[in-house]
Amino acid sequence: MISISNQYCIQKVVSVCAFVILAFICQQGQAQKTLTGEAQINIWLKQMTLDEKVAMCHAQSKFTSKGVPRLGIPEVTMSDGPHGVRAEVNWDNWSAAGWTNDSCTAFPALTCLAATFNPQMSLLYGQAIGEEARYRNKDVLLGPGVNIYRTPLNGRNFEYMGEDPYLSSIMVVPYIKGVQQNAVAACVKHYAFNNQELWRSSVDVSASDRAMFEIYLPAFKAAVMEGKAWSIMGSYNKFRGEHCCHNDLLLNKILKDEWKFDGVVISDWGGVHNTTQAINNGLDIEMGTGTDGFGKGAKNAYDFYYLANAYKTALRNGEASMTVLNDKVSRILRMILRTSMSKNRPFGSLVSEAHSTAARKVAEEGIVLLKNQDNFLPLNLKEVKTIAVIGENATRSLTIGGGSSGLKVKYEVSPLQGLLDKVGNSVNINYQMGYASGASDYNKEEASSYDADSLMREAVTIASKADVVIYVGGLNKNHLQDSEDGDRAGLNLPFGQDKLLTEILKVNKKVAIVLISGNAVAMPWVNDVPAILQSWYLGSEAGNAIASVLLGEVNPSGKLPFTFPVQLSDNGAHSFGAISYPGIDKKQEYKEDILVGYRWHDTKKIEPLFAFGHGLSYTNFLYKNLQLSRVVNGVVTATFTITNTGKVYGGEVAQLYVHKKNSSIIRAEKELKGFQKVFLNPGESKSVSIQLKNNAFQYYDETKKDWATEKGEYEIQVGGSSRTIRLNGKVIL
Ligand code: GLC
Repeated sequence: MISISNQYCIQKVVSVCAFVILAFICQQGQAQKTLTGEAQINIWLKQMTLDEKVAMCHAQSKFTSKGVPRLGIPEVTMSDGPHGVRAEVNWDNWSAAGWTNDSCTAFPALTCLAATFNPQMSLLYGQAIGEEARYRNKDVLLGPGVNIYRTPLNGRNFEYMGEDPYLSSIMVVPYIKGVQQNAVAACVKHYAFNNQELWRSSVDVSASDRAMFEIYLPAFKAAVMEGKAWSIMGSYNKFRGEHCCHNDLLLNKILKDEWKFDGVVISDWGGVHNTTQAINNGLDIEMGTGTDGFGKGAKNAYDFYYLANAYKTALRNGEASMTVLNDKVSRILRMILRTSMSKNRPFGSLVSEAHSTAARKVAEEGIVLLKNQDNFLPLNLKEVKTIAVIGENATRSLTIGGGSSGLKVKYEVSPLQGLLDKVGNSVNINYQMGYASGASDYNKEEASSYDADSLMREAVTIASKADVVIYVGGLNKNHLQDSEDGDRAGLNLPFGQDKLLTEILKVNKKVAIVLISGNAVAMPWVNDVPAILQSWYLGSEAGNAIASVLLGEVNPSGKLPFTFPVQLSDNGAHSFGAISYPGIDKKQEYKEDILVGYRWHDTKKIEPLFAFGHGLSYTNFLYKNLQLSRVVNGVVTATFTITNTGKVYGGEVAQLYVHKKNSSIIRAEKELKGFQKVFLNPGESKSVSIQLKNNAFQYYDETKKDWATEKGEYEIQVGGSSRTIRLNGKVIL
């Protein structure tokens, strides 16, 4: 018989032991859980054969790379693109697979996202497109693109975020976080110096260290160090003699060593050209080799990839190190654990109402009102009885085309449809195409059944009878017109549009121009029209967004992410002859150096047609009372007040530029170093505060090979564009 007191002691001891055991199990479990990532990778590395490791480092199909089924490690599935999840293609070639459940929501092009100057829009965008990629079982979304807009001729500028490294650096981070919240890896591209499409696979770019670190790399650095991107895509071109898909300086020294990138470097499709370099210069997965866009069976059989049999031979001959192979495989396994094998992998969603709303919000906030003489816009339907809508882009699908970012959409609202849906029968709307993208001498490549003269006559006829003309033109993602693998031949609008506009303006001056493009265009008619909207490739919700802005349901708040030059020769890249653009014998020198875009225009005192950061509103904003804090640990805080002095609600992007007075080195006249978008009701004021950290004043010192800050006076400039500075202040460093 055990006494009660002894029973109590025994129970106490038992419960304490149980607690200790439980705590130990939990601790182990927790340790196991936290160690799972890297510990699991090390376990797999020990279990995997050499063949299995090498097989992971190259494609097994058009858009997948191998897993290790024996060990339960799934293959890696990838998909374009930055604006929506591409339709399924066949396993081994580019042809559409013809599925019936792979239509997507088309989000606006990234130029539009950049034009919102609103990081919240970028997060919303990334979350929505990430949900679609997850639902479609994609582990890697091949986007966003952040190549700098150096020339208005680059065929893929529409996929990128403009000419300013600071704007791109701020806008790329939330997009990546939004995508990766869905256990989908963003794959930031194209790293680096892929700033034109002409000769994209062979042009050998050279640029200074300053241009590299101050202009072309910052957005990639932000993507890696702040966005924590899980993958990066090497670009087709060379930089300083080495292809960027296996470039020791860019991939090993800068990306992996300096920026501590722990993700996967994926080649662009067909961007790999050399086994030894591919092994040793930082590439992790080789994709698309040998495919000439169509793929040809055995010649492109995956064993013939540079990182396939050739790699195994090098390893077996002791010419390649197992350490380097294990590093590649560790990175790929880490990405698999973050994506398809993620413990909290969500389910995603596809073509939901929420995604349409996200697409429309980004579109509405990205449209830029370039000109609005006498408040021509928004249209007042009480005063307008007949509207003539003219232009092929009013009805043409613009979610297709453009190359790898082209999409198969669930739906797409055209500008004409968007207007018809909103005005109902309160206004009489007549439509004429006006021009056809194959009809004029500009683009002979596309035979067309249309006759340019009759198209023009019909357009002029309805224009002559209308109260107002809405012209919807621009570029259209055809080859040479904002598309991959080709640059534009010039700055002018194609397909005879300038002539058509001249004829329309002869019979009606009340013309609102809606330009749809991803690039700047020349506007010989700019002084003859009262209103111009820069609309972008806006995706599924295009027509709803454009109509909302034209009719005043939405007050435009976008700002230009790149400069519109009056003529091509005003642009920095086009001011140094062929060596600067497009290059000579595939050799190219970025001779404008750090003076890209408005940096060139402002420093060289060349008036732009429309400035970087420009964008009007249906209301007005007053900037007041700039206060600059003392410099504390290299940080300055700028505070000022913005007031909506107009009659309608609207958004304003307050921009902050830094100018170094009497600099001892070459510097841009001014550089964007801060911005904030504020929405205000009529009469409302808000205090805005922007922090300038020491990198706002730094330049890259090529002798020290490090960042440096000049002592002395800096001017702080605040305003609604790079050319409308409203407040000035100065700080002494
Ligand atoms: C293309 C593009 C790249 C795309 C890839 C797969 O050539 O350069 O952006 O993601 O191939 O389509």
